[in-house]
Amino acid sequence: MLDSIHVRGGNPLFGETKIQGSKNAVLPIMAAALLVEGVSVIENCPKITDVDHMQKLLTEIGCIIHWRNRSLYINASNANDNKMNSESVGKMRSSIMLLGAMLGRFGKAVMNYPGGCVIGARPIDIHLEALKKMGVSIEKEKSYFTATTDKLTGSVIELPIPSVGASENVILAAVNAKGVTILKNAAPEPEIVALCDFLKAAGAKIDIKEEKGKVIIVIYGGRALNPVTFRIPTDRIVAGTYMLGVLGVGGHVFLEDAPAGHMRAVIELAKEMNADVDITDKGIAVLADCIAKPIPYLETDIYPLFPTDLQSQLLSILTIADGESVICEKIFEDRLKIVPQLKKMGADITVNGNTATIRGVNRLKGTKVKAKELRGGAALVIAGIIAEGNTIISKRHFIERGYEDIARDFRNLGVIINNV
Ligand code: EPZ
Repeated sequence: MLDSIHVRGGNPLFGETKIQGSKNAVLPIMAAALLVEGVSVIENCPKITDVDHMQKLLTEIGCIIHWRNRSLYINASNANDNKMNSESVGKMRSSIMLLGAMLGRFGKAVMNYPGGCVIGARPIDIHLEALKKMGVSIEKEKSYFTATTDKLTGSVIELPIPSVGASENVILAAVNAKGVTILKNAAPEPEIVALCDFLKAAGAKIDIKEEKGKVIIVIYGGRALNPVTFRIPTDRIVAGTYMLGVLGVGGHVFLEDAPAGHMRAVIELAKEMNADVDITDKGIAVLADCIAKPIPYLETDIYPLFPTDLQSQLLSILTIADGESVICEKIFEDRLKIVPQLKKMGADITVNGNTATIRGVNRLKGTKVKAKELRGGAALVIAGIIAEGNTIISKRHFIERGYEDIARDFRNLGVIINNV
């Protein structure tokens, strides 16, 4: 296999596809399984390479993990090693999510700095500052750090920004801390709620409330956690990707199990583009004209506003909108990397700092393009679906970090598309 995707574009989408389990929900929940001395069963687990990497990391520290159909069985009874394998940590940023769980389980974690990626530096200063308030000391070496604690202690922590990963690390450390942790300005994302739901199902006591528009999470530490079976919610970003696909090229699709309750921003956008969106308890039906409407101005922002993880995919469909659009990326400092690849297909986009101005053209032209990261890769698939002729997207492995099989899903929606 050439680690590429071949797509023949230019046709509307018709059909239905089932939405997979959520990448950004399952990763912290896999970390949380480390806190349970027994077998946790994670149902509706997406078969994506980020899960494979997290499975490898957990196995390296002594967990026994196996799949049964779409469920992941994690036995953390004999987890025993607080040193992460540096090569594995380097492969996946979300390894940082194990920090809080390892401190809760072992009182110690030795791990590499997860490092940045194409979309930004991805620092972990907020994670480390928060954990220090819980009695964790951090010794920094050149390429790795050691976090240790004699006793994790509940604390009042206010995050400077509602960081998803930092919120998850605090929650994972706090469930085994002595006393109560009050986490202020916590991330409001549904994936945080899913993590808390898993921990509460295992026996933790956690309250989530909102004050003056900010989320406060109260974790009552020290309660025993018992093995649990938990179903991962479906992936709002995967569903949003496919919804944007039909907005870009028109058609009528059904996204089975799509989590409409977590997709308000993209559903609103679809309605502003005059699409018919029909929400049922089985999923979302979308009927769209054959071209996206321009968007005068849109910013990516904290949930439930428009998600940064759908920004590249939105850029793709605006390339042939009948007018000018302006998109501002407010979450990550370098998440417009996909623009040169879209321009190679004939898009008319100018970037000024973290803002892209897209002037609609009549058609994109299929050609060879290269994925550089996960969501940008998905955006190139959408561009290929919109373009005239054939597009080859290389470096498919980036896309497989978060999509089980984007070609399979779009083929279900009538696209001529294959992994090659
Ligand atoms: C999570 O990343 C998601 N990843 C991202 O999804 C998502 O885009 C992001 O949240 C925002 O929703 C997973 O859940 C595995 P943050 P995370 O901490 O936790 C800065 C995808 O495509 N920051 O909320 O890393 C940071 O640089 C991925 O599925 C600090 O400055 O996001 C960024 O600018 C991409 N210091 C902003 O905060 C810190 O210590 C938001 O980051 C931590 C973060």
